[in-house]
Amino acid sequence: MGETRKISLSVNGTSYADQEVEVRFTLADFLRQQLGLTGTHLGCEHGVCGACTILLNGQSARSCLLLAVQVDGAEITTIEGIAPSADELHPLQEAFRDNHGLQCGFCTPGMLTTLLEFLGDNPDPTEQEVRIAISGNLCRCTGYQGIVAAALDAAKRLQKA
Ligand code: FES
Ligand code: FES
Repeated sequence: MGETRKISLSVNGTSYADQEVEVRFTLADFLRQQLGLTGTHLGCEHGVCGACTILLNGQSARSCLLLAVQVDGAEITTIEGIAPSADELHPLQEAFRDNHGLQCGFCTPGMLTTLLEFLGDNPDPTEQEVRIAISGNLCRCTGYQGIVAAALDAAKRLQKA
């Protein structure tokens, strides 16, 4: 093991105190390898694809571009933390399921965390606004049509919720 530091943070509402982490570890590596939260995916590992997007203190961030030691004291939400319970999906997840918003699912955690923040800021978006919001998230499967439809459907569901 290389040089380490201790960090404390909250992930999906669970507190992790005094976690010893290698200073070279990205936040993505820490979440995946140390906490076992492998729902955060790694594609490009240099900030382009958006697959690793998480919420850092409520704002979307690329976890491949952050070092774990930089998030000491932060509140993180990953894809594992967005459903209200183990038996229930978040309305955004339901909308993705119902609108064929995913195929292989590799981009999906990043799409969902990005859209969670976006729909919080803009609860009634236009299609164009949705397309701009996800323009930093690459999907190699869907052609984006189902994703955009899912986001617009999710906006309606969230307004009713
Ligand atoms: S893996 Fe982080 S942006 Fe691609
Ligand atoms: S569903 Fe496969 S990359 Fe988006």
